[in-house]
Amino acid sequence: MIILGIETSCDETSVAIVENGRQIHSCVIASQIKAHRRHGGVVPELASRMHTEDLPAVLQRAFQDANMGWDDIEGIAVTHRPGLESSLLIGVTAAKTLAHARGLPLYGIHHLHGHIVSPTLSHDLPFPHLALVVSGGHTQIWHVRSFQDMSVVAQTRDDAVGEAFDKVARLLGLGYPGGPRVEAAARDATAPIAFTVPLRHDPTSFSFSGLKTAVMVEVGGYTGAQSGATNILKPVLSPERIANICQGFQNAVVQHLLDKIGYAIAQVSPKALTITGGVAANRFIVAQLTDALQTGKFGHAALREPALQAIFKKILPMPVYSPDLVFCTDNAAMIAATAYYMSAETVIDTYAELKVLPTGC
Ligand code: KG4
Ligand code: ZN
Repeated sequence: MIILGIETSCDETSVAIVENGRQIHSCVIASQIKAHRRHGGVVPELASRMHTEDLPAVLQRAFQDANMGWDDIEGIAVTHRPGLESSLLIGVTAAKTLAHARGLPLYGIHHLHGHIVSPTLSHDLPFPHLALVVSGGHTQIWHVRSFQDMSVVAQTRDDAVGEAFDKVARLLGLGYPGGPRVEAAARDATAPIAFTVPLRHDPTSFSFSGLKTAVMVEVGGYTGAQSGATNILKPVLSPERIANICQGFQNAVVQHLLDKIGYAIAQVSPKALTITGGVAANRFIVAQLTDALQTGKFGHAALREPALQAIFKKILPMPVYSPDLVFCTDNAAMIAATAYYMSAETVIDTYAELKVLPTGC
């Protein structure tokens, strides 16, 4: 089955043509990063305007790259939740119009299901598995019994991890988007700062706002650079100090993620872990999590207790999968693939039924 996918939930305009959830005939992604960079983050009104401008050319290019025409397409999949309302509206309106004009089935796809499915674009995944979704808007662990049957087992109480990366980068004057810049700066660390790992007592909640504040205190305490006309700080920190803060932040993030992954593994005995979303592009984080799931070495004392260690001994080592780099961040190939796996449930019979749901529910 050949499905055309459309993704416009945030700041990437993407169209892909994917066969049977696996064979990617084309995947075109127009990123808006440059336009949002000067504002230090995504501006919703600008994002939706750019989706409107970019979508026709991205669609045309997807057909060209695939060397296909409308007669080849058997269904249209579109992200309709969660995301920026005005951005989702552009993709959903385009998908409804195209599906109606071509008489094609229309599939409304949950953006996070798309991220969860994304590793299957390049790997065979065993079930059940755990899916760690770490992006600019979400931090969750899902128990994936099958692609038709999955539920959230841990999630953030406040910021998403990608959002925390972006804010830390901003505090350190590294620019936007923060993730890749923090990761690059951290490579020169000599003595990483030891930040407190958040919420160790709670097995199912992430929290990144305190960690972000700890970085702010570290930066403010050192430079006193919090005043000024703009809210982008211009710290007088040495590159070495910035590197040590970035690496310390990443270490705390890794430990925080590992705490909840450890509890979730003990709870559901999965056969694998997947790491998806924009933060899965962070090679340090993926390497550290992979290493822990081979050795069973968890930093948190509670996870080193004999009862849990006995469980880990049975289940670990465990394979860890993340998508190819290009499919870590938002893309339409994962949306088209998700429609293939979920088509029986997600097909929308009347176009009026497909609603935009910014919060995901
Ligand atoms: O999945 P995504 O493209 O969009 C959302 O659905 O949110 O994720 C974007 C997020 C941004 O916060 C960005 O800073 C983060 O992913 N990111 C990274 C890296 N590359 C992108 N975070 C950490 N390390 C990276 N290398
Ligand atoms: Zn995303």
